[in-house]
Amino acid sequence: MDYLIHHLLDKSTCLNLAKDIKREKSEWEEGKKTAGSHASTVKNNFQLNRDSEISLKHSQFISEKITSDKLLKSFALPRKLHGLMFTRTGEGQGYGVHVDNPYMSSGRSDLSFTLFLSEPNDYQGGELSLQTIQGCKKLKLQSGHIVIYPSTSLHSVEPVTFGERLVCVGWIQSYVQNNEDRNILFGLDAGARGLLAKQGRTPELDLVFQAYSNLLRRLGD
Ligand code: NI
Repeated sequence: MDYLIHHLLDKSTCLNLAKDIKREKSEWEEGKKTAGSHASTVKNNFQLNRDSEISLKHSQFISEKITSDKLLKSFALPRKLHGLMFTRTGEGQGYGVHVDNPYMSSGRSDLSFTLFLSEPNDYQGGELSLQTIQGCKKLKLQSGHIVIYPSTSLHSVEPVTFGERLVCVGWIQSYVQNNEDRNILFGLDAGARGLLAKQGRTPELDLVFQAYSNLLRRLGD
C-alpha cells in the first residue's frame, strides 16, 4: 500500500482546534519561509509560526494522537514525528508539484502526512494530489482524517478557488526507511493481528510475531 487514510480526530475537536489557531492572527506567516529551495518557488500559503505557544500546544496534541494510534504505528513505525505545522491555503493560493526535503533540521522525512482540519465543503479546489505508482490520486478528506504517504512522492496542493483549506502537515522519521520494507512489515503485522483476533494466541502465531520482530530488527536502522 502506497499511502494510508485514517480517521484520527472527531469533528468537534477539529472545529475547536481551528477556532483556536485562527484567533492568533499575529502568528501566521508566509509559507515560503520554511520551504526548501526546490519547493519555495511553488509554495503559496500561510502557516502558523511553529515556535509559537499555540502551535507547540496543538502540535503536541496531534503528535500524541498519531503515536498512540495502533494502525498508524503499524503502518509508519515512527521513530520520531517532526516539523508539524498548521497551514492555511486561501483563494488563489496552492502549492505546486514538489518533493519534500529528505533531511530537515528536525529529522529525516520518510513519510509525510496531512491532517485535514476543515470540511471539504468549506473550500473548492485544495485537493492533495499524490503521484503514486498507480497514477495521480487527488485527496480531499473529511475533517479529522489523515493521509500518510511516502515522502519520496511528488505531490502538490491544487489551487483553492473558494474558501479556505486548513490542515496540519508534518513528517515521520521511521524505524524503517525503505517504503517496500515497511509495507512488507505492515502486511505481516496486519495478518498476524487479524489471526490473533480471530483465534487467540497460538504457538504458530508466536512464531509469526517472532519473525516480525526479527525482521524489524534486520530492516530497521
Ligand atoms: Ni510537501
